[in-house]
This record gives sequence, structure tokens and C-alpha cells, in this order.
Amino acid sequence: MKFLLLATTLTLTLGAQAQRPVYLDETKPVEQRVEDALKRMTLDEKIAVIHAQSKFSSAGVKRLGFTDFWTDDGPHGVRPDVLWDEWEQAGQTNDSCVAFPALTCLAATWNPTMARLYGHSLGEEALYRGKDMILGPGVNIYRTPLGGRNFEYMGEDPYLAGRMVVPYVQGLQANGVAACVKHYALNNDEEYRHQVNVVVSDRALHEIYLPAFKAAVIEGKVWGIMGAYNLYKDQHNCHNAILLNQILKRDWAFDGVVVSDWGGCHDTDQAVRNGLDMEFGTWTDGLTMGKTNAYSSYYLADAYKRAIREGRYTERELDDKVRRVLRLFYRTTMNRQRPIGFLCSEAHYDAARKIGNEGIVLLKNRQNVLPIDTLTARNILVVGENAVKMMTVGGGSSSLKVQRELSPLDGLRATLAPRGVNIVWERGYVGDTNGSFNGVTSGQDLSESRTPDRLVADAVSKARKADYVVFFGGLNKSDYQDCEGHDRKEYGLPYGQDRLIEALAKANRNLIVVNISGNAVAMPWADRVNAIVQGWYLGSETGHCLADVLTGRVNPSGKLPFTWPRTLDDVPAHRLGTYPGTWRPDHKIIDEEYKEGLYVGYRGVDRYKTRPLFAFGHGLSYTSFRISNLRVDKTTMTHDGKLTFTVNVANTGKREGAEVIQLYISDLQSSLPRPVKELKAFMKVSLRPGESRDVTLTIDNAALSFYDDSRGVWTSEPGDFEALVGNTSDKPNLKVRFKLTDGLH
Ligand code: GLC
Repeated sequence: MKFLLLATTLTLTLGAQAQRPVYLDETKPVEQRVEDALKRMTLDEKIAVIHAQSKFSSAGVKRLGFTDFWTDDGPHGVRPDVLWDEWEQAGQTNDSCVAFPALTCLAATWNPTMARLYGHSLGEEALYRGKDMILGPGVNIYRTPLGGRNFEYMGEDPYLAGRMVVPYVQGLQANGVAACVKHYALNNDEEYRHQVNVVVSDRALHEIYLPAFKAAVIEGKVWGIMGAYNLYKDQHNCHNAILLNQILKRDWAFDGVVVSDWGGCHDTDQAVRNGLDMEFGTWTDGLTMGKTNAYSSYYLADAYKRAIREGRYTERELDDKVRRVLRLFYRTTMNRQRPIGFLCSEAHYDAARKIGNEGIVLLKNRQNVLPIDTLTARNILVVGENAVKMMTVGGGSSSLKVQRELSPLDGLRATLAPRGVNIVWERGYVGDTNGSFNGVTSGQDLSESRTPDRLVADAVSKARKADYVVFFGGLNKSDYQDCEGHDRKEYGLPYGQDRLIEALAKANRNLIVVNISGNAVAMPWADRVNAIVQGWYLGSETGHCLADVLTGRVNPSGKLPFTWPRTLDDVPAHRLGTYPGTWRPDHKIIDEEYKEGLYVGYRGVDRYKTRPLFAFGHGLSYTSFRISNLRVDKTTMTHDGKLTFTVNVANTGKREGAEVIQLYISDLQSSLPRPVKELKAFMKVSLRPGESRDVTLTIDNAALSFYDDSRGVWTSEPGDFEALVGNTSDKPNLKVRFKLTDGLH
């Protein structure tokens, strides 16, 4: 009887399996399922899946069982839900999140393991929140310290950004949630972002601005790419034939979807022919204004459907778009193996704290003012608005509604009050008293009645009597600061902070300046301050991260992901006067020529012999390291070979710490001009006091190559090269020469 029952069940199951259509049969290859689904879809259904149906969602195919597809911002945490067709809050009480540190901080960890942890944690939050695509991370290159969204990106160097974006994407997508790497490409400043036509050499495009996107596609296997608002060669980047059809889809064989930035699509014919697959946010500027319920009037909606029906297009382009969207569905909404999501878990707070701890950069520590001597310190004065101001609200689309955000002041109090340390706060200056974005409010009352002079006097009078003064200042997420939509108008610190810092430095030699920003800022007082820390936007665990480092619970190991110029004139984009560009007579387009070409960041420092305040890759520690004995496994290499460099790293101090060994390559005889040196490998290593270890760094032909714009190919040339190894770009003290014998033509 049992056997009969089993046989019957088996027959029924096989029968059901056999009857299940291919597109629903999980035993079949995805591409076969895509083709079967495509065949079954009507024109209306095909058109419906390639454009938005609400602010952040696009349609599935109800009749076939494909659920709607939900995107959400952003790179640092999952944005709270807005109303179907509004930027304003949906008023839900279930969508608070963990805010992870901003991506400049992640880049400053120089630790790909942190990037994997970041992406994986964010992916779990997104999955729990029912999001199928996170609109991030951003990897636009830091070209000017005025850039409003640099805090959302990974610094000035394409190699560092590439090494960090790959594990972030892999970690996120391991949850069956798509990453959408943005903003492709050349969206390097915010001013006039919808009208900028970037004029850039092919070499700079391929060697500086594209590599991080290329790594995300080829190594990270990213499922989404977001087109940028700006133009390149007079075509908007959300439907740009060169960037999308030729480079992304043909040369890099990208099999995912190209998503427009919100409002980045401007033309049906270009959208059809030039590689746009999903149109979002049209008729909005991506932040505020917008036509209500305009979805059927999208460029890839009724207009496109009508044009097909009138025979102006076949369904060839449409089917390519729909195939990509279906593939995305099978990777996300139709992926029934997706893991479990988690929201606001202890693991996510731990991850945020760990990443923040590893990203904070100790810029200066004269006379070892830091770490704070918590045994002897009795009175600490904390000064500055950024000691209390919530930074997870604001900044544009990356703004969040957090479950909690611990301020620097509260972090220090939580750490030191139990040890009997008395901590007093003085405002010092008034910055941005607003605290809301898209209806999310910080709830803080930052109003202030005292005059600036009174504020400074009050802070200074207390500073004279304190054991330590910790100043938390810098920028914030308000407009024309570190914020989407505009760039900063000045390189210096706003709100009269310089004057206050000078006064505090005079009042107390144990002044510690913690700069909270996503950008470099002028520091005219740097010689008169003993301790300077780059604190970044650290998210929910801000207070713990900063207190951990300032009190020595954690030994800082962050390194700058961008050059810190003394003045704006040291920055090639400003030195050559090409920022923000030149308006055309019709004042519709502004041409911004990247005249500096390859010489961005430290590449510009080497080219123009400027002297930055702090170099790319710079970061101090509470211990000390010796890097010595550089050797290489052979002194010649072929284009299909590899070279392995080894150095010994010793912790010569009294406490555990981590150092980042950086390897730069210099092409000593190239037929085309090349930067003096370029970062081509790095490794972060933790050592106990007295411990030493050999660290090996391996390079291949890619590390020697450059883009030959006369032939449109990457190439390497035989000849002499030099490897320079150190722990910062301005002092790569160890050098060794080697030869490439055959080059790749
Ligand atoms: C914004 C941003 C983009 C964001 C999108 C949705 O304007 O440029 O980064 O993901 O629109 O908010």
C-alpha cells in the first residue's frame, strides 16, 4: 500500500513538475526561463516592466506571477518609505534602520573585508524591508573637495575605489538584493548636475573615472548600474550610446539593468536605442519637484508603445531591455533561495561600529595628546555643534530615519562618565539648526540665543580650566555643505569655526580637533593644534566609534582616501580653472572640461609638485611600525606573468595596531605621459606589540598598463618600472626596479 502511495505521489509530483511552465521551473537555467517568460508577455506587460509605477517601484507581471520590483536608497542604509507618488514620508513606524558610516569612511578603512561586511549587513536590512535593489554604492571619483556628494563615494583613486566596491556589491547581492552602482559616469560634482556636459580625455575617462565601475561589473558582477544626470559628448548619461552600449554592455559584457537616475531620462528615441533599461523618477529633479502620477507619460511608456505600434521600432530593443529586467527578477524577486533579512540587529550595529572604528583617520598627534589619558583626566570640555547634531538626517537621497544615532558627546559621556570624568559641552558656534529631510526630522532643538562672540568667550573660558578640549566641528548635511544637489561654495570651514579653533588652541594645549565631514577642508590653524582627527559621517554608532578611538579603546588605522590640499589652488580642477565649467550661450548646457586629465589627487600632487596638508593614504596610529626589507621574487616580468613583492612589517610600539602597506607603480619609460606613480596594490595588516610579519603584494600586467587613446586599447609597454612601497603616498620609501620584457600591445 505504502509503495503504491509513494509511487502515486511521485507520479503526481513529476506530473506537476512536467506541467510547470519553463519560466517557473527552478530546475531550468535562468536564460531559458527568461526566454520562456518573454515569449508569454504582451506588449503592454513588456512596456510596464521597463519604467516606474511609483516613486521607487516598477511593475512585475501580475498575470505570470512576477511581483512588483522595489528599489530604495541609499548607500549608507535603507531609506524610509515615502508615499506611492510623493517624496514625503509614508509615516510608517516600521522603517527605522541602522545607518552605516558614509562610504568615504568605508574607503578610509582600506579593508575589503569591511566592504564585504558593509554590503552584507545593508543587504540584510534591505531584504527585511522588502527592497529588491539598493540604489548604491556610489563610486564617482573625488575630483574637487567642494563636491556635495563626495561623502557618498570612495575617494580619489580608481584602484582603491575598485577594491572596495567589489566586496560591497558581492556582500549586498549575496542576499538576493541588487546593488545599483552609481552614478555612471563622470558625475563628480553637484552644481548644475543636470546640465553639465563633461569634456574629458579618453585616457582620463578610462584610467581614472571608469575603473571602479568596470570592477563592479566584471569582478563584482553587479546587477544594476545607475546612469548619471550629466552629459558626456552631449548625450545624457542615462541614455548615452558610448558609455552604455559600447563600453558597459559591449566591452564589459554587462548583463544587468541600466536604471536612470531619477529624472535622468530626457528622450524616447535615445532611451530606446542607447541602452536605458528602467526609467525612474522622470518629471522630477530627483529630490523635490515632480509631476504627479506621470508614469504613463514616461519616455519608455506610452510614447514608446505608440512608436512600436506605428512601426517606428521593432520589439528588438524592447526585448533586450525586458530580458535584462527578467534576469534581474530571477536574481531577486523570483529567487526563492533568498536568505532571511534582519533589521536593526546587534550584528548590524556591531558592523557599523567596526567599520567606523577602522575608518577614522588620526591625521596629527603631536606630543601624543591622544589617546585621552582617562586615568588622570578629570574634566573634559567638549565644544562644537557637531558634538550633538544628528548627521543621518539630511544630505539628500542618502538621508535616513535611524532607530538611533549616538552623538559624539553622548558617546564620550557613556564611555568616560563611569570613570568619573566630568564632561561639559559648549556650543562654540551655530551651524545648521535645521534637522529635517523629506519629512524625517531629527527632533533636535538647536536654537541658540547667544551671539557668536559670546559663544566663543564661553567656550574659551571653560577651555582654560579643562584637562582636555575636544572640538567636534567640520561640515554637515545641509545645502551647500556635504549635500546632494549643490557643491560647497568655499573650501574653508563655515560658521566662524577657524576663529574658534584658534582661540581654543591658545587656551589649551590639549586641544583635539575632530573634523566631521565627507570632504577635505582648509585648516589654517593646523600648525597650532596638536591633535587632529578625521571623523567622517559615522552613522548610528558615531558616538561609540569616536569615543573608542579618542579614549584608546581602539587604535586608529584609517588612511585618507583622498588628498588633503592646503588650499583650493593646489587642486588641479581649480588650479586650471575648469570647475564648475563654462555656460553655453543658450545657458542650457555648461561644459566642464577636465583639463587636468589623469592628474587628479596625489597624481596631481606629483605632477604639479604641490604640498598637501595631508597626503592620500596618510593616517597615524597609537603605535609605530617599521616597514623594511622590500624584495621581489624576480626582476623581470612578461605581460602574462606576475610579480610578488614582500616587505617585513614590525609593530615597534607598545600596543596592537594595524598598518596599510601601499604599493605604487611608476612607469619609468612610457611612450605616453603617465602619472609619476599609481596605487596598484595594498594590504592592511594587524600586529601585536613587537610582532613582525612578511606581507606579500602581487601585481600582474594590469598594474603596468595604461589606456592608449590612439588605438582605444589598454596596453603595457616593455621597459623599466619601479615599485614604491610605504604607508602613505608621500613617503613610499622602499623602492625596487624591475623590467617588463614583452608588454601587451
Ligand atoms: C537622486 C540621486 C540618486 C538617488 C535617486 C533616488 O536624485 O541622484 O543617487 O538614488 O535620485 O532618490
